[in-house]
Amino acid sequence: MSRPKVFVARRIPESGLNAMAAHCDLDVWPEQLPPPPEELRRRVADCTGLVSLLTDRVDAALLDAAPKLKVVSNFAVGFNNIDVPACTARGVRVGNTPGVLTDATADIAVSLLLAAARRLPDSAADAKAGRWLTWEPLGWMGQDLVGRTLGIVGMGRIGFATAKRLHGGWGMKVLYTARAAKPDADRDLGARRVELDELLAQSDYVSVHADLNPTTKGLFGAAQFARMKRSAVFVNTSRGPLVDQTALAAALRNGTIFAAGLDVTDPEPLLPSHELYALPNCLIVPHIASATPDTRNAMARLCANNLIAGVTGAPLPHCVNPV
Ligand code: GLV
Repeated sequence: MSRPKVFVARRIPESGLNAMAAHCDLDVWPEQLPPPPEELRRRVADCTGLVSLLTDRVDAALLDAAPKLKVVSNFAVGFNNIDVPACTARGVRVGNTPGVLTDATADIAVSLLLAAARRLPDSAADAKAGRWLTWEPLGWMGQDLVGRTLGIVGMGRIGFATAKRLHGGWGMKVLYTARAAKPDADRDLGARRVELDELLAQSDYVSVHADLNPTTKGLFGAAQFARMKRSAVFVNTSRGPLVDQTALAAALRNGTIFAAGLDVTDPEPLLPSHELYALPNCLIVPHIASATPDTRNAMARLCANNLIAGVTGAPLPHCVNPV
């Protein structure tokens, strides 16, 4: 019997590739950069499975070019790169990799928060550039953390793990927004669900963990930054398009808020000429939240399990559009 053909849109860790290769014929895109859309369409044309990354757009045009496709296994927990209704309409199952990157992502959210609050980027740059002239009694002042208020926008797994670290380690009070109340957060972290406006007004730290969808696109604009405290630190580890970056740059430049730490931007990569890089109170890292070997291996295994289930017609372990 012929083995299912699968296109893998980038080299992912061997643990995932080997598992898939035991069941399927793999065509692995070897380049550092994603396949251009027309190349992606050409490669999936006779495939039963596709392993996509968050940089690969899976839309109706791609699906129409791949009539045999049964499964799209995204090597990510987020799946805003995929037109899920278009997949569902064609009977194509979509898998993602939840759970295994929760801790690594929460670690990056906390790292960005601490670094931005205590001005690590600009003070380190000053030291390196020879602007460290003496011990400065009034210099490089940051923000305290102990007992401050943390606002979690989107109390899912990653929001919870971030709040747990900051509540447990620094005794932060936790406010959150979520589509539904989160009894675990209320019980374990003494957290309180509030409306976004209240969260913005009360929080010293605002950390964004909501997924990107039509209701969250552009959620943070000039009006939201204006509601925040002047001492507030804003952290985003979810998706760039939740934030109006022009408004964020203005808020950071004018002192509307104190600092920002971003793991995600719009677009990605954000080119070095972007105004946000010129701001000393803005720290940007290149979407590295899940970048540890253990995490990426676990993602690769989950991604492979979804893919193998999909090509063999079994239910996906993590499916975003189950039948
Ligand atoms: C990364 O951003 C992911 O969604 O896994």
